[in-house]
Amino acid sequence: MIHNFISGLFTLIYLVGASQAVAESKLAAYETHCAACHGSDRAGLMGPTLLPENLKRLKKSAALDVITNGRVATQMPAFKALISPETITQIVDYIYETPAEMPDWNDAMIRASRRDLATDTVRSEKPKFTADPWNLFLIVETGDHHVTLLDGDKFEPVTRFETHFALHGGPKFTRDGRFVYFASRDGWVSKYDIYNLRYVSEVRVGINTRNIAVSDNGEYVIAANYWPHSLVLLSGKDLSLIQRIDVTSTAGISSRVSAVYNARPRDSFVVALKDVPEVWEIHYETDKRTTNFKTNRILMDAILDDFFFSPDYSKVMGASRPLDSGQRGQIASGQVIDLDRGKKIADLDLPGMPHLGSGISWNYQDRPIMATPNLRTAEVSVIDMQNWQTIKRIDTLGSGFFMRSHENTPYAWVDVFFGPNKDKVHIIDKKTLEIVNTLQPVPGKTAAHVEFTKDGLFALLSIMEQDDGAIIVYDAATFEEVKRIPMSRPVGKYNVYNKTHLSSGTSH
Ligand code: HEC
Repeated sequence: MIHNFISGLFTLIYLVGASQAVAESKLAAYETHCAACHGSDRAGLMGPTLLPENLKRLKKSAALDVITNGRVATQMPAFKALISPETITQIVDYIYETPAEMPDWNDAMIRASRRDLATDTVRSEKPKFTADPWNLFLIVETGDHHVTLLDGDKFEPVTRFETHFALHGGPKFTRDGRFVYFASRDGWVSKYDIYNLRYVSEVRVGINTRNIAVSDNGEYVIAANYWPHSLVLLSGKDLSLIQRIDVTSTAGISSRVSAVYNARPRDSFVVALKDVPEVWEIHYETDKRTTNFKTNRILMDAILDDFFFSPDYSKVMGASRPLDSGQRGQIASGQVIDLDRGKKIADLDLPGMPHLGSGISWNYQDRPIMATPNLRTAEVSVIDMQNWQTIKRIDTLGSGFFMRSHENTPYAWVDVFFGPNKDKVHIIDKKTLEIVNTLQPVPGKTAAHVEFTKDGLFALLSIMEQDDGAIIVYDAATFEEVKRIPMSRPVGKYNVYNKTHLSSGTSH
């Protein structure tokens, strides 16, 4: 009896010891070969963060390939001569596992990471180039982590500069179009001076960041984080930390933040939460008694984390956008929230998984309507914004991601991002709500994300490939190709004028 107990105990100790040894040996290979660049806690140092949520867009097989063969023209070395294939597989499993303790990113770490980057003090208050500063495009190229600043009249680069690894969520401009802020997947926020063609400052606000918003007065920049569960409010001037807001629901549940938006006419930021059914509105001014920023919480009956705002920002159309594999089965339930009344005022009839964040609006038969692509269903839904009814479903060749138009064009362009027709783009007549043309810019290559010039006369489209990526410029009236500019996986393009003037044909 006692003997049995003791041998059982030994077996137990042995088993615990063995499993620890396995865990430690996996960690040991990582410590030896990877930690110097990616951090012992995997939060990233010179190399990017290697935590499961950060790696969501990288397939395990692709990670295996990167580790085995390295990445050309980057600091990521090839390990095939140093580490056995079995150990590389173990390392891959290890970096896709959530660690027992996720790395923290607290106020002191945020403050310590901030840097001023403008080395000289001579600054010009006028652009250092001749191109129209309002008709510039910022083109985010994630293939080699650069941004190209493109002259929107001549379609020639003004400059091209390096960014942090994996920019995410779209750059945000100050209202005068002079400064732009970027956020990277791994939490870096940078401020760039377009007139002087140089960075101003940078700061790391978290470990996994979704996007940023800039207040209308340019005083505040706010970042939405998946990890840690926080919003980080920065000074628009030099990106110094003003306040970090832990994101916890009224019921005490900690939540990731999906996105934050600037609601210009309301002087507030609106916050979409990923894990709890609340929508937050943070007003720019502080509560005098607490010095906290005045925050309204709207309690919902569903989680909504993908938003489209009415033109005056008083109403939000929301849907849930399940990005996690675990949430795939969930059916999106679209709703309309009145921000002033703090409650839901209508349900939306939207099948599949609408991508409201990429929706656009225009007037159709004297009524404001919005049109949204759908990440799962092969259709564009058109909704009357007076009675919130779906008035039309436009069948497409597959589900789409981005939709764009401009006040000066009769057409709306929508890509067919997913599936075998990812190389096609539909052009919809805004008067008839019918597809009038379908382009196939480069057979077999993903064609997506259109943005118009300031005057709406040209449409720029991305061929989102790493090696033979390009921007194609189209005449927006005849759909003829005007120019093709090679780029390294140009995922997004942003026209300074259309973004700062809240064109109804683009997201803001
Ligand atoms: C000398 C520094 C360095 C070392 C050592 C290093 N890496 Fe990297 N790693 C990088 C850099 C820099 C990148 C970003 C490359 C790029 O720009 O695409 C990277 C990218 C990666 C990526 C792709 C991440 C993504 O999101 O695309 C993975 C995965 C990765 N490294 C894993 C590892 C592993 C595992 C090890 C150890 C076996 C390791 N790295 C060792 C610097 C390093």
